Amino acid sequence: MNCKIIDLPKIEDPRGNLSFIEDNNQVPFKIERAYWIYDVPGGQMRGGHAFKKQNELIVALSGSFDILVDDGKEKSIFSLNRSYYGLFIPAGLWRQMQNFSTNSLALVLSSTHYSETDYIRDYREFLKYVKSHE
Ligand code: TYD
Repeated sequence: MNCKIIDLPKIEDPRGNLSFIEDNNQVPFKIERAYWIYDVPGGQMRGGHAFKKQNELIVALSGSFDILVDDGKEKSIFSLNRSYYGLFIPAGLWRQMQNFSTNSLALVLSSTHYSETDYIRDYREFLKYVKSHE
């Protein structure tokens, strides 16, 4: 699975730490969109879909959550619990975000503008999609 945690730069400072992301540098794509997920009630999950073209980088700016990533054959769980971790999820992988801590804030950087036609929201359809792209 070519999904991976990227260690983002961390500039440590007694005044507070600073991290940053530049497109085509810390993220291996041009950033076309940013969105964020917040006020997630306890026990709720987000995601539960795959993208055909869209690459993403997800950062837990605050708090923590887990991301289950599935390539149709194996599943991995990545825990995002530091503001300087970014999870790179290339296109074609099923993802689900879960175990959100109270007041967590998820920043998602995307390689495309929003397009509903890029989503695969049905898991069986996802498995067919994976088979047809082997
Ligand atoms: P969705 O991507 O399904 O949420 P998540 O994967 O985080 O659980 O999006 C939820 C709704 O928000 C859906 O109706 C589409 C809309 N939406 C936009 O209009 N623009 C966006 O950039 C995103 C990410 C979602």
